[in-house]
Amino acid sequence: MKPMTTSPKGLFIKTYGCQMNVYDSERMADVLKPLGFVEVDSPEKAQLIVLNTCHIREKATEKVFSELGQIRRLKDEGDGDITIAVAGCVAQAEGEEIIRRQPAVDIVVGPQSYHKLPEMLAKTSRSIKDRLETDFAVADKFGAFSKIRDVKGPSAFLSVQEGCDKFCTFCVVPYTRGAEYSRSAADILTEAEGLVGQGVCEIVLVGQNVNAWHGVSGSVGEGGRRDQTEWDLGRLIRRLGQIDGLKRLRYTTSHPRDMNDSLITAHREVDSLAPFLHLPVQSGSDAILKAMNRGHSVTDYLHIIDRVRRARPDMSFASDFIVGFPGETDADFEGTLSLVREVGYSQSYAFKYSPRPGTPASDMDEEVEEAVKEERLSRLLTEISRQSRAFNLTMVGSTLQVLFTRRGKSEGQALGYSPHMQPVHVDGAEALIGRLCEVRVIAATGTSLSGRLLEETSSGRADFIEART
Ligand code: 5AD
Ligand code: SF4
Repeated sequence: MKPMTTSPKGLFIKTYGCQMNVYDSERMADVLKPLGFVEVDSPEKAQLIVLNTCHIREKATEKVFSELGQIRRLKDEGDGDITIAVAGCVAQAEGEEIIRRQPAVDIVVGPQSYHKLPEMLAKTSRSIKDRLETDFAVADKFGAFSKIRDVKGPSAFLSVQEGCDKFCTFCVVPYTRGAEYSRSAADILTEAEGLVGQGVCEIVLVGQNVNAWHGVSGSVGEGGRRDQTEWDLGRLIRRLGQIDGLKRLRYTTSHPRDMNDSLITAHREVDSLAPFLHLPVQSGSDAILKAMNRGHSVTDYLHIIDRVRRARPDMSFASDFIVGFPGETDADFEGTLSLVREVGYSQSYAFKYSPRPGTPASDMDEEVEEAVKEERLSRLLTEISRQSRAFNLTMVGSTLQVLFTRRGKSEGQALGYSPHMQPVHVDGAEALIGRLCEVRVIAATGTSLSGRLLEETSSGRADFIEART
C-alpha cells in the first residue's frame, strides 16, 4: 500500500437524499480527516470529491450523472489531481455501471463500506476491483465509525439502524441498504453520551425504519459477558432521556406497523422527546396500501395517530405520500386527500410514483398517466401547504424553545428549530447559536416562523457559532 501524506487536502462532499446520507457524509469526513482531508465548500477547492447519492426516485439518480458530467470537466481542466468518489445508494445499486457510464469516477463505495475509504484511496490502481466496494457488512461499518466522531454543532444525528425488511413494493431501500440491522443499545448509549459530553444538546436517532430498532442491551456485565436482553425503541428513548444535558430527542423515519405501545408511551413519559412525528402513510386508500405491501389499513393508521395524540396532546405529524401508484383511481386519490384533511399535518412530502428497477411495483400494470400524476401532486401539495400555513399560524403569540443551529440570512440573525421542526428566525440572536432559548413567536409563513428572544434556557456552547459558519 502506498503511504498517504498528511498535508491538508480539500474534501468536498455533496449529499443527496435522506438523513442517513447526511449522517454517513459526516462519518466519511471523520474517517478521512486523519489522512489530512479538510472539508471545503466547493468542488473547485477539492482534491477529493464525494457524491453521496440517493436512488429512491429516478430523478435523484439522474441528478448524480449530470453532476458527474460537470465534475469531470473540473478534472479534465485541472492539473489532474482530483479523485472522484461515488458513494451511497446509487453506488450500491449500480456498482460498476457507474464507472462504465462515467470513466472519470475513481471510486464507487456502497453505504456499508465507508470505513474502507482510506484503504481504497491508498490503492491508486485503476482496476475496477480496487475502485469498487459495495459489500453488505453493516456491523463493520458501525464498529469503525463509533470510535471516531467529530461534533459539528448542537444537534447531531445518531444512526441506530440501517436497512429495511418491510419490502414496500415501490421502494429500493431493502435492495440498496440491505436487511434491517440494529446496533446494540450499549453502543448507541456510548455514542450518545460522547456527543452530549462534547456539547450536543439535541440528538436525532436516524434509520431507514428507525422504529423497527430492536437492539440487544449489549452492556458488558460480570465476567465480561454481554447482556442479551432485547430492547425496543421506546426503551432506548427512555434510557437516552436520562442523559444529563440532552435537552431534545427526535427519531426519524418510522413505519406505522412498528409504532408499538412502548414507543407511544415514551411520548407521554419522556419530556425531552420532541412532540413531532414523521410517520409516512403513502396513501389514503386501502386498496393502494395493500398493493404497496404496507401491511396496515387507513383505519389502523388513524388509530395510531389518535393514540399518539392521546399520549402527547401537543403532538404534530408529518407524512410522505406517493401519487400515481399503479392502479390508483380518482377515488383512491380522493381517499388520500380526505386522510390528509382528517389528520391535519404540520408538514408533509409528496412525490409522483417513479418505477424503480427491481421493485415489484415496477412490473405492475395500470400505470397512471403522467398528466394525471401531475394534477394529483399539485392538488395534494396545495392541501399540504394550506395545512402547514394553518399550523404555523397557530404558533403566533406562543412561546417555544428554539435550538439555534446556524446564522440566518440577515445580519445578526440566527436560525433555529422549534420542537415541531419548524425553522425559526430570530434577529439579534447570532451569539446564541448552539443554545436552546425561549422565543416568543411574532409571525408565521407557510414554511417558517419568526420570533423574539425571551431568555436563554440552556448554557449550550457558544463556540458552535464558529463551527457552523
Ligand atoms: N416513487 C416515488 N416515491 C417514492 N418514495 C420511495 N420510493 C418511491 C418511488 N418509487 C418516497 C416514499 C418514501 C420517501 C422517502 O420517498 O414516500 O417515504
Ligand atoms: Fe422503503 Fe417501505 Fe422500508 Fe420505508 S418501510 S424504507 S418505504 S421498504
